[in-house]
Amino acid sequence: MNFLVTGGAGFIGSAVCRHLCANPAYRVTNLDKLTYAGNLASLRPIENAHNYSFAQADICDERAVLDLLRRHDIDIVMNLAAESHVDRSIDGPGAFIETNIVGTYKILNAALEYWRSLSDDRKSRFRFHHVSTDEVFGDLPFEGGMFVEETPYAPSSPYSASKAASDHLVRAWHETYGLPVVLSNCSNNYGPYHFPEKLIPLVILNALDEKPLPVYGAGANVRDWLFVEDHARALELVATKGHPGESYNVGGNSERTNLAVVETICDLLDARRPRARGRRYRELISFVTDRPGHDRRYAIDATKIGRELGWTPRENFDSGLARTVDWFLDNEWWWGPIREQRYAGERLGEARKVGA
Ligand code: NAD
Ligand code: TYD
Repeated sequence: MNFLVTGGAGFIGSAVCRHLCANPAYRVTNLDKLTYAGNLASLRPIENAHNYSFAQADICDERAVLDLLRRHDIDIVMNLAAESHVDRSIDGPGAFIETNIVGTYKILNAALEYWRSLSDDRKSRFRFHHVSTDEVFGDLPFEGGMFVEETPYAPSSPYSASKAASDHLVRAWHETYGLPVVLSNCSNNYGPYHFPEKLIPLVILNALDEKPLPVYGAGANVRDWLFVEDHARALELVATKGHPGESYNVGGNSERTNLAVVETICDLLDARRPRARGRRYRELISFVTDRPGHDRRYAIDATKIGRELGWTPRENFDSGLARTVDWFLDNEWWWGPIREQRYAGERLGEARKVGA
């Protein structure tokens, strides 16, 4: 089976490529533009694998995508390429509109043209899997409730609005043109190779640098956390066994306030890399101005993917977070150059000035 994974040099896409390449019956082509968030170092474990190849391209380039679909005889497209950071979408929504909306439109067009040229047998097996987020549903009250697949879309940020728009396009290409699509909407991922602009890796690396640990508002916002390798297994199931036209919610059943997440990281680091003179990492926590439009709470009901595709997460939050902290302690070769050359941890997304 031949996969085209877009955004495969990113955090989740690279986990998907590493996971799929472990199956010798699969061939994986990774299409990535290599934006600031793309990093070929995340593919180092598979870069010489016989069933892996990389192509630098933009999903907005319909011809380039079509060419790769034909050249690699693709059976399944997994579309992960996106601008993914809410704070960057507040500072500069333009790139989110371009990649997440226009890019999805372009890759859908390429997939449709390719799909129409296939034999009936291959047509029925072809899948376009669009990887989305729970943030399209908006937010939940602190007191209760969960997102199900039927929850109406109500995105709050430029990021989530652009993802919602792309989901609608994908569904429309199924309803109107018959393209066999599947969608998945997942909660917050964490794990190895996570770009250190997101909460968990940022806090780990700032702590190691003895820098303030920025907690937005009072740290009371709640996220549901899923270990990235559990997400990669879920995505394989959705792509290969999901029913065309359906969407699947994916979550870790691990809701935590942001402050609890930051404090747990501090405690893990105290045990592993104690600070000088008996100081605690929690002393570095710094409450900063809140994110504009900050969603209060996300929670996912993942019953459907469990019942229909047999998926459950293997990692719980405590075991997954300990693995993640250990990975960052052991892999400075990966994050050192990012912190030095690409992003040093400065505050993003205060909406002082909106760029292009
Ligand atoms: P990421 O920012 O780490 O990686 C995105 C990748 O896409 C990068 O390698 C980048 O170079 C590439 N890319 C960006 N624009 C491109 C373009 N125009 N053409 C080709 N490649 C391009 O993101 P991630 O966290 O790995 O997220 C992957 C997908 O999963 C996204 O679609 C995101 O919306 C979704 N998602 C993420 C989370 C999460 O917690 N990170 C949760 C649910 C869903
Ligand atoms: P983030 O990792 O950016 O993911 P998302 O916005 O997609 O949920 O943020 C996770 C939560 O942590 C979110 O509620 C915002 C908060 N946060 C902080 O408190 N401090 C930070 O420095 C960052 C980046 C996020």
